[in-house]
Amino acid sequence: MESVAASNREASEAWSGPLFERFVQFRDLVTAGLGAHGEAAIEAHPPQPGARALDLGCGFGDTTQRLAQLVGPAGEAVGVDVSEPFVEAARADAAAAGVANASFLVGDVQATEFEETFDYAFSRMGIMFFANPVQALRNVRLALVPGGQLCAVVWRRKLDNEWVRRAELVVEDYLDHPEESDEPTCGPGPFSMADADTVSEQLRIAGFDEIGFQRCDRPIKIGADLDHAVEFNMALGPAGEVLRLWGDRVDEIRPKIARQLREALAEFDGPDGVVAPASTWIISARAPAQASPAH
Ligand SMILES: C[S@@+](CC[C@H](N)C(=O)[O-])C[C@H]1O[C@@H](n2cnc3c(N)ncnc32)[C@H](O)[C@@H]1O
Repeated sequence: MESVAASNREASEAWSGPLFERFVQFRDLVTAGLGAHGEAAIEAHPPQPGARALDLGCGFGDTTQRLAQLVGPAGEAVGVDVSEPFVEAARADAAAAGVANASFLVGDVQATEFEETFDYAFSRMGIMFFANPVQALRNVRLALVPGGQLCAVVWRRKLDNEWVRRAELVVEDYLDHPEESDEPTCGPGPFSMADADTVSEQLRIAGFDEIGFQRCDRPIKIGADLDHAVEFNMALGPAGEVLRLWGDRVDEIRPKIARQLREALAEFDGPDGVVAPASTWIISARAPAQASPAH
């Protein structure tokens, strides 16, 4: 089996290059913002002490370290990510923090038949980028022991994440999604799992049972101030993605977009920085107690 599915190669290039760089640039914002939603998910569906936990699309691996802490020295946490630079950063951080029971591997979840089994699989915003989500989720289910738990956080629809929608509308006033770009795209995208019915069906086809969706609404900080929030939205998320794909072809209109974005996000500016309502799904599911066939 290829280490990266052909259908995920372009996304893998994006996650190992331009997106990694942008996540490094906005790391504090992303980690803190997503952190509250990740913690809510872990609280709702915690791993058991002594468990073997798998962290899907682990990024910098802060959640992998958290899982390692929760499962304790008798357990183990393994982070997997398609992007080598993310995995290198995650390994370095876990080593620097002295976390002995966390390890990391580079791999495309959609193309990985995990050699070991796990009691618990977790993901914070790491499962929305697979070209074939059913195939990826099936690999996760096969990696779980019978009765093993999946717990994942994904974005709910843009309409319930008003800052994302506003930023996208501003950019859409000026630009469509480009038909051609020298830049690689990020895969299906952060909002590809917002529809609970669709994802529930994907999980069912992948062989999961006891599928549940719990809405999680917690504000997140999208900038230390308005300039920072504008910069963030022009670099990441759906608006940032369109701008990135257009690249320097749209340099002339960037200042106009920035000005309009500033106005669109001003409502969220306050004493603690730019803080906007944010809404995610906490998805839970189980591998059936009786293991089902591989395909
Ligand atoms: C939005 S980031 C989230 C990172 C981290 N979980 C967090 O919450 O900070 C998405 C992550 O999924 C990873 N990813 C994307 N496609 C993947 C795939 N096919 N297999 C494994 N990881 C993937 C990316 O490299 C990236 O690190």
